[in-house]
This record gives sequence, structure tokens and C-alpha cells, in this order.
Amino acid sequence: MLDIFDQLRKEIEEAVIDTKEAVEDFRVSYLGRKNGRLKALSEKMRDIDVADRPVFGKNINALKDLVNNRLDQAQQLLRSSGSKKGKTIDLTLPGRKPDLGSLHPLTQTAEEIQGIFTAYGFTIAEGPEIEDDWHNFTSLNFPEDHPARDMQDTFFLREKSVDIDAAVLRTHTSPVQIRVMKSSQPPIRVIAPGRVYRNETITFKSYCVFHQVEGLYVDEGVSLADLKQILHMFARAMFGEDVKTRFRPSFFPFTEPSAEFDVWMPNKDLPAGGRWLEILGCGMVDPNVLEAVGIDSERYTGYAFGMGVERIAMLRYGIKDLRIFYENDVRFLEQF
Ligand code: DAH
Repeated sequence: MLDIFDQLRKEIEEAVIDTKEAVEDFRVSYLGRKNGRLKALSEKMRDIDVADRPVFGKNINALKDLVNNRLDQAQQLLRSSGSKKGKTIDLTLPGRKPDLGSLHPLTQTAEEIQGIFTAYGFTIAEGPEIEDDWHNFTSLNFPEDHPARDMQDTFFLREKSVDIDAAVLRTHTSPVQIRVMKSSQPPIRVIAPGRVYRNETITFKSYCVFHQVEGLYVDEGVSLADLKQILHMFARAMFGEDVKTRFRPSFFPFTEPSAEFDVWMPNKDLPAGGRWLEILGCGMVDPNVLEAVGIDSERYTGYAFGMGVERIAMLRYGIKDLRIFYENDVRFLEQF
């Protein structure tokens, strides 16, 4: 009889149980209720001498303990090696959030500006970022060699020669006005969002590239009152119902009269609340500009305006340094 116990102990001690399946087979083969080997042994108890039964029972219990110990060990091993190999999945862990991209704050601001004007019947126009001197300056009433051209530090791509115009990176979106007026007849009502370039020293408030939204409305009888109305409505939509607005006289070669347009937000807690802020330039389209594109300036009048998208985004979000828009720092971008 003792032989059987010794043999079983050896088998139990040496059994290889290194997979989940092996653990389960091992358990069933020794402890299974139906055909488990220890179960079968217990049943033999009846056939032996009463005097031998206590020792027999003790031996069976010792084997049971051994089986249970080996099961515990095997399971623990499986659990720790499983997590190292990443084989098991802990369904109770919270899920990992996928990183979602978002629109750049400048894109969001430009789209919001576009949304406001398209709701008032403006359509969207586009033009090239590489312009010739005529579209960027001359047609917009910048006289040849006039200091007004120095208002905008220009990146030149090609110098002017006898038979070919200079090529520049456009310094503003105003040349899109010219392209639209050349290719269509009044009534014209467009906005032109886009990227513009200036050869300026890079600081917290100026960068070599930035964004503008240009506006143009040309028709019979367009007046300064129409310009004041549309800009006031724009300011309310963009900055809130209680915004105050004002026009200050200014100068641009392509408008006469010209003005700068300021907003004032009463809420002092807002990043830019409680003070006057300039947000755009505007004016009535200069008759010289209409004539340059072949529109009868006796019959038609128009207004135009141009705003910087960076400036408006900075005011809205309380951003103090414009360079951060171009650094692609996700810690900044993911806040929008
Ligand atoms: N183009 C001007 C700039 O870049 C902005 C501007 C001012 C546009 C007045 C206009 C305007 O259409 O009427 O500074």
C-alpha cells in the first residue's frame, strides 16, 4: 500500500503544469469527483483493516495538500509570466483613450469668421500665395516707388525686368479683391481667407507668415453705413452681444476714406476685456482700384475690410505670444 502513496507523491511532484490547460487536467486527474485518482483511493478505504484506516486517511490528505500546493504554485507562475508577456487582458482596467486630433486654433477662428460672413450672404474666394507686383500693389493703388509700399515688408521671389513683373509672396489678402473684380461683375460680395507673408523680424507680435480674412462688397449704392453695419454685426457675433465698436480714421492706398475698427468688451475678466482693441482695417474701395479692374466707378461703389486671424484668436483666447501658433506644441494645441 505504501508503494502506491510513494508513487503518487512522486508523480504529483514531477508533473509538468505550465499551461492553463495542464493545470486543469492536473486538477481533474487527481481531485476530480468522478475519476480523480485520490477519490478512487479514498474509496479503497472500505477494503482495508479498521486499524490501518487512520494512517491511510492521513496519507490521502497529505497527497491532497500536495496537489493543492502544486496547483497554487502553477497558477501563480502562470499569472506572473502571463502579465510579462502581455498575454492576459485585465478586463477591469479602465480603457485607454485614443489620442484625438483637433482643428488648429487658427483654423477654428478662421472658420468661425467665415461662418459669420457666409450667413450674411458672402461667398468665399481664393487667390494664389505667390502674386505679381501688379495684383499685390499697383492695382491696389500703391504708386510706383511710393513709401506706402514700405508699410509691408515684402519677400521678393523675382525682380521686375523689362518684360516681366516682379513676383512676391503676397503681403496681404487684398489682391484677391482684384482677382474677383477682374473675373466677375457686381454685385460682388466675397470674403477671402488665406495665408500671407511679411519679411519682418520675428517677435511675440509679428511672424513671417500669418493669416488674414479679406472682405469685399461692390454694388450700386454701397455706402459707409453698410460697412459700419456689417462690421458691427460681425463684432457682436464674434465677441458677444454687449461689445462696443468704433471707427478711427486711417489710411490705406486702396480705400478712401479709410478707417481702423476697434472693439471693446465690457467683461473685465475676459483676457482682452475692458479696453479698446484694434481688430481690422477697412474703408470704401478707392475709385482708382475699381478703374484698375474695369469697373465703372461712377456707377458702382464698394467697401472692403481686412483682418488678422492671429490677432483675433489671441484676443479671444488670451494668448500673449503669437509664435506659439506655429510651434506645433501638443500641450498648447490639445487645449482647443
Ligand atoms: N490689406 C491691409 C493689411 O494687410 C488690411 C486692409 C485694410 C484690407 C483696409 C482692406 C482694407 O480690404 O479695406 O494691412
